[in-house]
Amino acid sequence: MTTDLPGPPQESVPSLLRPGARVFVAGHRGLVGSAVVRRLTAEGHEVMTRGRDQLDLRDAERTAAFLRDARPDAVVLAAAKVGGIMANSTYPVQFLEDNLRIQLSVIAGAHAAGVERLLFLGSSCIYPRRAPQPIPESALLTGPLEPTNEAYALAKIAGIVQIQSYRRQYGASYISAMPTNLYGPGDNFDLETSHVLPALIRRFHEARLSGASAVTLWGSGSPRREFLHVDDLAAACVLLLERYDGEAPVNVGSGEDLAIHELASTVADVTSYQGKVEWDTAKPDGTPRKLLDVSRLASLGFAPRIELRDGIAGTYAWWLQQQGTRV
Ligand SMILES: NC(=O)c1ccc[n+]([C@@H]2O[C@H](COP(=O)([O-])OP(=O)(O)OC[C@H]3O[C@@H](n4cnc5c(N)ncnc54)[C@H](OP(=O)(O)O)[C@@H]3O)[C@@H](O)[C@H]2O)c1
Repeated sequence: MTTDLPGPPQESVPSLLRPGARVFVAGHRGLVGSAVVRRLTAEGHEVMTRGRDQLDLRDAERTAAFLRDARPDAVVLAAAKVGGIMANSTYPVQFLEDNLRIQLSVIAGAHAAGVERLLFLGSSCIYPRRAPQPIPESALLTGPLEPTNEAYALAKIAGIVQIQSYRRQYGASYISAMPTNLYGPGDNFDLETSHVLPALIRRFHEARLSGASAVTLWGSGSPRREFLHVDDLAAACVLLLERYDGEAPVNVGSGEDLAIHELASTVADVTSYQGKVEWDTAKPDGTPRKLLDVSRLASLGFAPRIELRDGIAGTYAWWLQQQGTRV
């Protein structure tokens, strides 16, 4: 049963994930994993988890033994070493090796244990730096990568090829999703390792509290980026497990991009920061534009529900609550 471009949802098509399925979510404490757990639970599935303290997924033998004993119906592989530009350029060895090892352990272990469905999380940042915009899934492996995250991207590309190889060689019903930039409750607000959106929220919030007259941000503010709330991603992940069984990875995005300076204005507004925003153009911009072609996902009946401004406000409120502060 291989369907690269399924049509719109039809009630008569049986789900590829049975009701009340037992699903192991690898990386359940992370941004993606925690949202996937919420969504699967809400849909009546039985979620299985193991913290890194109980099971280091880089350990292939222990991971295989866990999967053999637990025998989940499905696995969502949301465990990975992830980070922003600074973390990627400081720790390329860990971004390459940890991700390769986690993928090898979990995907091979799941297959050996007879797991029927597996969803692997790739990323929009593994497409070539000069990919056509919006980026179709077919752009993968068609050109040079963004140098700042090459090690991470190569590990993730290996994961996509691993999924495709298990399909070709063993007929495994394993699939990959390619999410755009994500944000939401559970995000990482550590300025050393965070992505752009939580970093902006924190910088503007702290500038407001300290009464700073200006905030200086990296780059020119002109690169265009797409953002998706992680709860929308989680809904897409469950939909893919239920309805998609193709070899090609599936892009998951909002289908809309905006300039980083526009994003900064929205975050400043949400956090009530009223000072100036200055741009340090000596710092690198990264990929000039990144917008996914989401037509394959749309053909499965998916549309995101959370508006960017609402999602940012909810994420800001979540972060303040974590710190015991109020807006
Ligand atoms: N965030 C985004 O914007 C984004 C965009 C596109 C794609 N993705 C993809 O989505 C996936 C998840 O990303 P995320 O943002 O949710 O990352 P995250 O918040 O850092 O979560 C990663 C999770 O993986 C776990 N983990 C890492 N190494 C592990 C190990 N050796 N053994 C066991 N668990 C381990 C972490 O455990 P601890 O809690 O113990 O650290 C954490 O729970 C990744 O594949 C990423 O490439 C993310």
